[in-house]
Amino acid sequence: MKILVTGGAGYIGSHTCVELINAGYEVVIADNFLNSCPVVLDRIKELTGRDFGFYECDLRDRAPLDKIFAEHKIDAVIHFAGLKAVGESVEKPLEYYDNNLGCTLTLCEAMRAANCKRLVFSSSATVYGMNNPSPLREDMPIGGTTNPYGTTKYMIELILRDLYASDNTWSIALLRYFNPIGAHKSGRIGENPNGIPNNLMPYITQVAVGKLPYINVFGNDYDTPDGTGVRDYIHVVDLALGHLKAVEKIMSGTGIDAYNLGTGKGYSVLEMIRSLEKASGKKLNYKIMGRRPGDLASCYSDPSKALRELGWRAERGLEEMCEDSWRWQSMNPEGY
Ligand code: NAD
Ligand code: WQD
Repeated sequence: MKILVTGGAGYIGSHTCVELINAGYEVVIADNFLNSCPVVLDRIKELTGRDFGFYECDLRDRAPLDKIFAEHKIDAVIHFAGLKAVGESVEKPLEYYDNNLGCTLTLCEAMRAANCKRLVFSSSATVYGMNNPSPLREDMPIGGTTNPYGTTKYMIELILRDLYASDNTWSIALLRYFNPIGAHKSGRIGENPNGIPNNLMPYITQVAVGKLPYINVFGNDYDTPDGTGVRDYIHVVDLALGHLKAVEKIMSGTGIDAYNLGTGKGYSVLEMIRSLEKASGKKLNYKIMGRRPGDLASCYSDPSKALRELGWRAERGLEEMCEDSWRWQSMNPEGY
């Protein structure tokens, strides 16, 4: 079975490619390295001992997509490609709408033309917006997003539902990721943010490795056990394995469904700092700052639908997530 992985050179995409290849799938990656670099491809080869197809292309361009579908019999597509920085999306809304919606529309047009109608889409917990209480369930209303990035994910979910309504031979899984962290056990692939990280875990590991002086803790007056924000952190390898289960699901019938990929457990910012201190053996400095605009107090999943319908659940706990994040950061202090 052959899977096209868009954005396969990125953080989640690279881990998913390793698991797909190790499970015996053939993989074709399409990526333009907008937020990744070519060395990732060598690392995937090194970890799997197998080769795969690669096309350097912008997913908004139709011609290379048609070429991929002409040169390979693609059974299903996993669509990771997109821009993902919340703050940047507020500064550059047009670029975010253009890239995230443009990639998805062009990809779906090319898939339809090639009669490949099986798609796994990278959605996000952000589609639940500000108004739903945790634990978040797939049947809760979505929308009310607070930034252009989140709105692109919400809009793409609506677009894909309209697509299915127009042609029910499609089979689509909308995977709503919570907070992916961690890295492959080898320490050879991991998250590689450009510049100063926006997300908590890469920020913490960069403090631990000495690249940044201290962690800014955004608020300690939330209605949570220690006052700091609570999130559902999930090991990126568990997340990757969720994609394999989603592929099995979309191969088995038609329809469109959303699934939370999370652990169902929430940890606070201070718990994350302590856990990374333990994993790294280093004392980490932090400062309490004001709240970050748009942040929720708590955000965690009810992951039971994925267990029920995909047969998937996260197996890796917080300690392992932090050990693996630290191994990646300490082995690659400057990233790739
Ligand atoms: P990433 O930035 O590491 O990977 C995205 C990949 O897509 C990169 O390799 C980038 O070069 C590529 N890309 C972007 N625009 C492209 C284009 N126009 N044409 C071709 N390639 C393009 O991000 P990630 O963390 O691996 O996230 C993957 C997907 O999961 C994204 O859609 C993201 O929005 C979604 N997601 C991520 C998180 C998270 O916290 N990391 C959470 C929820 C959802
Ligand atoms: C986690 C917690 C912060 C940084 C974002 C996107 C979401 C999804 C995942 C893609 C919060 C606190 C953070 C720091 C801190 N991405 N924090 N100091 O905001 O839950 O989710 O990434 O879809 O859409 O919104 O993740 O890692 O930024 O923050 O105190 O330097 O850490 O306030 O409580 P978030 P995060």
